[in-house]
Amino acid sequence: MAAHTSFFFFIFLLTHFLFYSSPTTFASFSPNHIPPTCDDHEKSALLQFKDSFIMDDCDPKFEGWKLDGSDCCWWDGIECDGITGHVISLDLSSSCLSGSINSSSSLFQLLHLRSLNLAHNDFNHSSIPSALGHLLPNLAHLNLSYSGFSGPIPSSISNLSKLSSLDLSRNHDLLLRNPDFKTLLRKLGNLQVLHLDGVDMSSTVPDDILANSSSLLSLSLVDCNLQGEFPTPIFQLPKLEVLFLDSNPNLTGHLPDFHFSTTLRKLDG
Ligand SMILES: *[C@@H]1O[C@H](CO)[C@@H](O)[C@H](O)[C@H]1NC(C)=O
Ligand SMILES: *[C@@H]1O[C@H](CO)[C@@H](O)[C@H](O)[C@H]1NC(C)=O
Ligand SMILES: *[C@@H]1O[C@H](CO)[C@@H](O)[C@H](O)[C@H]1NC(C)=O
Ligand SMILES: *[C@@H]1O[C@H](CO)[C@@H](O)[C@H](O)[C@H]1NC(C)=O
Ligand SMILES: *[C@@H]1O[C@H](CO)[C@@H](O)[C@H](O)[C@H]1NC(C)=O
Ligand SMILES: *[C@@H]1O[C@H](CO)[C@@H](O)[C@H](O)[C@H]1NC(C)=O
Repeated sequence: MAAHTSFFFFIFLLTHFLFYSSPTTFASFSPNHIPPTCDDHEKSALLQFKDSFIMDDCDPKFEGWKLDGSDCCWWDGIECDGITGHVISLDLSSSCLSGSINSSSSLFQLLHLRSLNLAHNDFNHSSIPSALGHLLPNLAHLNLSYSGFSGPIPSSISNLSKLSSLDLSRNHDLLLRNPDFKTLLRKLGNLQVLHLDGVDMSSTVPDDILANSSSLLSLSLVDCNLQGEFPTPIFQLPKLEVLFLDSNPNLTGHLPDFHFSTTLRKLDG
């Protein structure tokens, strides 16, 4: 089976979706284990971070965020490590945040973060701060989709070697140049989920995508200005279940013969 023109793929995953969005915690509770309370320094960093945005109070999430005696580990959107008490997950998706984040933001005092979700906010065409890659080395989940960032994706992002999911979809006009797509894939060998819809890559899909992407479960590159011939080795990725590549008018190629035993659930080409 071969298609010589640009082609569309819509591949649907029927299972596993809940798994993608849930950050992992490693809380361990035993009958006489009292979970530690929130670190004062991290608590004030959280409040400072919140206060660095213009908010129209549309989100009740922040009602409990106060510099009183409350334990920030119980605040909405926060998760702490059950052993150390450090904040490990911050989910401020759809929280009406409006403004920008520079590299001196108190966000970067939350050094133990493993999961950061700021999706569906308005970062007002500002750029993704490069401190993300330098100061939050434990990030496994980073989600900045639909949040109004623009400009180049910082090179430091490829330092985040523990990343297992990265979603930068649907910002204003993000560019992936340095690192380019190939370097990103090579350096982030633990990625399971990579969603970059709408990011301008002006790139081919690297031929050696197999080299370091064997963990990929879900790859979404809709409207990424992908160029050139589509590398059929992508269909040999052992775990791939979801592949979205539509709206890349300059992507051409052949669909492979479907003799492989694929993990993909559905393909329309
Ligand atoms: C990113 O966050 C948004 C909003 O919470 C969610 O809809 C989306 O599925 C997340 N992306 C990933 C890859 O989990
Ligand atoms: C960074 O942003 C904060 C507000 O979040 C602002 O007070 C500070 O001046 C900014 N720093 C720089 C270097 O732009
Ligand atoms: C958004 O950016 C514009 C231009 O840089 C600036 O004038 C405006 O104050 C920003 N708005 C917010 C909410 O930060
Ligand atoms: C992270 O990435 C930057 C830019 O790519 C690089 O200069 C730096 O040495 C890397 N390592 C750390 C630990 O930040
Ligand atoms: C694959 O990724 C790991 C880090 O996740 C890196 O150390 C290794 O050099 C990469 N391999 C290749 C062939 O790029
Ligand atoms: C597609 O390729 C043609 C020829 O190389 C080029 O002129 C055009 O700008 C490309 N379109 C996009 C959207 O990159």
